[in-house]
Amino acid sequence: MRKIAIVTLVAAPLLVGSLTAGSVLASGGRSADEQALAPLRGAASRSVEQRVDRLLAQMTVKEKLQQVQLLSDGQVTDADARAGVGGVFSLTDPTRIDQLQRIAMTESRLKIPILFAYDTIHGYRTIFPVPLAAASSFDPEVAKADARIGARESATVGIKQIYSPMVDVSHEPRWGRIVEGNGEDPYLGSAFAAARVKGAQGNDYGRPDRTLTSPKHFVAYGQPEGGRDYNTTDLSEQRLRNLYLPPFKAAIEAGADSIMCSFNAINGVPGCANHYTETDILKKEWGFDGFIESDYTAVTETIAHGTAADAADAGAKALMAGTDSEMVSTTLRDNGEQLLADGRISKRRLDDAVRRILRVKFRAGLFERPYVDQAKAVDPASFLTSADRAAARTAAGRSMVLLHNEDQALPLDPAKDTAVIGPLADNQHDMLGPWWGRGQDADVVSVRQGVTDGSTGTTTFAQGCTLSNEEPPDYDPADDCGSAAGFAEAVAAANAADQVVLALGETREMSGEAATRSTLDLPGRQQELIDAIAATGKPFAVVLFNGRPLTLSGVVDSAPAVLEAWFPGVEAGNAVADVLFGKVNPGGKLPVSFPQRLGQVPIYYNHEPTGRPCDVTQKYTSRYRDLRSCDPLFPFGFGLSYTTFEVSDLALDRTTVSRKGEVVASMTVTNTGDVAGDDVAQLYLHDPVASISQPVRRLRGFERVTLEPGESRTVRFTLDASDFGFYDNRGEFVVEPGEIQVFAGDDSTADLTKTFRVRR
Ligand code: NOJ
Repeated sequence: MRKIAIVTLVAAPLLVGSLTAGSVLASGGRSADEQALAPLRGAASRSVEQRVDRLLAQMTVKEKLQQVQLLSDGQVTDADARAGVGGVFSLTDPTRIDQLQRIAMTESRLKIPILFAYDTIHGYRTIFPVPLAAASSFDPEVAKADARIGARESATVGIKQIYSPMVDVSHEPRWGRIVEGNGEDPYLGSAFAAARVKGAQGNDYGRPDRTLTSPKHFVAYGQPEGGRDYNTTDLSEQRLRNLYLPPFKAAIEAGADSIMCSFNAINGVPGCANHYTETDILKKEWGFDGFIESDYTAVTETIAHGTAADAADAGAKALMAGTDSEMVSTTLRDNGEQLLADGRISKRRLDDAVRRILRVKFRAGLFERPYVDQAKAVDPASFLTSADRAAARTAAGRSMVLLHNEDQALPLDPAKDTAVIGPLADNQHDMLGPWWGRGQDADVVSVRQGVTDGSTGTTTFAQGCTLSNEEPPDYDPADDCGSAAGFAEAVAAANAADQVVLALGETREMSGEAATRSTLDLPGRQQELIDAIAATGKPFAVVLFNGRPLTLSGVVDSAPAVLEAWFPGVEAGNAVADVLFGKVNPGGKLPVSFPQRLGQVPIYYNHEPTGRPCDVTQKYTSRYRDLRSCDPLFPFGFGLSYTTFEVSDLALDRTTVSRKGEVVASMTVTNTGDVAGDDVAQLYLHDPVASISQPVRRLRGFERVTLEPGESRTVRFTLDASDFGFYDNRGEFVVEPGEIQVFAGDDSTADLTKTFRVRR
């Protein structure tokens, strides 16, 4: 159940020139169908079911086994299309897509269209900031704009399904895929999951400029042991339901009709052979009537997991657990007839899988509009339009988080001479992040270019050192800023300039799938480069490009200002310059905690209490012997601005509430500084006495507000049982009587507090 924040204007004093962006996203073409998001059901749905029935009745077993097969671009042949293969992914050539579709529509016996899919995660050609960055905006419109434009560009070449949003909640910064999700919080993650589904699908993914979405990876893939990708997760029922499932539920409620099961084992059972999560929860409990596709070879991988004996066994177990479509591996297509004959899979279940796939193909309008508009698909004007670029620039600006700003080191003066230094300063490639779709390096505005264009002083450049883009076995961490040979040139450039922008961080290859790191430090000798620049005495700011929380204590000690820019996408340099020179006042907040040291991982704000809470002055407490505090360096929800804010007047409209009742919490945010800026009002709850111990805080409301100097705004959140209750270890949602503490502020350490009581 989503809450709506109602924002009331309290006072609107003198307008001083606005430093805050946002208008492009808000006005950039939100179509009417996105505003009225009713899923396609009712009469239309009855006719879809009849059409599915008619088609299914004509299908042979072989045709059904083709329909549940999903092949990659490298695998698929004309013969597959002729045989009636269900889906193809990663193919982006509109001519080949059309060719295969024409074979399916004219030469296959039943003329069932192929569903073409692609990983449009943060853009197809117009690459937006990575999802972890978008989540930092605390503005779901950022994600919605990304999904809307990505879906439109994808659909233009014939792609009708995107393998997005990635909604895995994660407390694991070593894991490279933390970059693809929305961070550590299920509430924020749910809001962004829903926004991406609505952005891509609108209220009808059958429209030519829309695609079906496929939230992934179902489920708990974000918590691999040791942070190693694909590794085991073992979790309690309450964690499964309170932390990992909510964003999937939100995505499905927003209209997602397909979902991807995960590589990992959940309590010993692989995600794509897991009857409990796939059938009991997703299909039965939630009433999901779309289809589940496996992740890449995840069905055969159940053999390596040790839960299937061979390919036939893997296929049987995956299908009977609830997986409807098999990606890349062909265990069902190869063995399905025999499995049916042996009674190891049922006709009923196979029909159900096919029915789900056909249903979605009908809803997608593929039978009516199977082909690509070739003229549009090859017209460069269909992609990366100036409006799309403007939206990507706004999104990137809204996603950046100002972590540190001593003595107002930022914003920089655009009239001064700037040295742009660092391995990522004159870089286009890495700015795109780890899922660049069809994005091209040449499309990207580098930081060097953005600073040059955004200032009137001269801009000079020195690389300092280089980072490696190699993959194993050629990758050697020693190649990441391993040499200080370029430092002297960098120092000279700094000395010759008035101010320095130091662009540091990770390569895009260090994030994403199979990109776990065993350290969260800045790779190589980048810290030494910071220290060398600091020694010049020139004013400077570190701008970070990375896909995970990093350990930044040294950076913060040496640098006057630190801006977390993540991987900002195609408009990276312009967006960075907007923020550095104060055209955009940063208002992003961290969607994930940044530890002081790797040894604190997992560290997350919504942890349960312990019997002996951390007290570094006391030996027998839950502390680190070698750390002066258990806190993260930067907490969830944290981010600075060029102005200052005060959050005050937390109020509740009642002190007791029935289990079915509502409580309205309000707080006032005031811009106490001299320039306009954005803050994020954040509301947290804690249940201090419950049948199972409850997280010390849980985010249950947020709203990003733009305020002129001196302006105040009161933000209200309506809380109900979905907020006071929780799932217990039997999988029951319970609302227990007793006190609930409410905290208000602008990060997760929020200290304004009030309580109410849930009545018996
Ligand atoms: C594997 C990844 O885990 C998944 O996220 C992606 O959608 C598929 N490959 C297809 O590319």
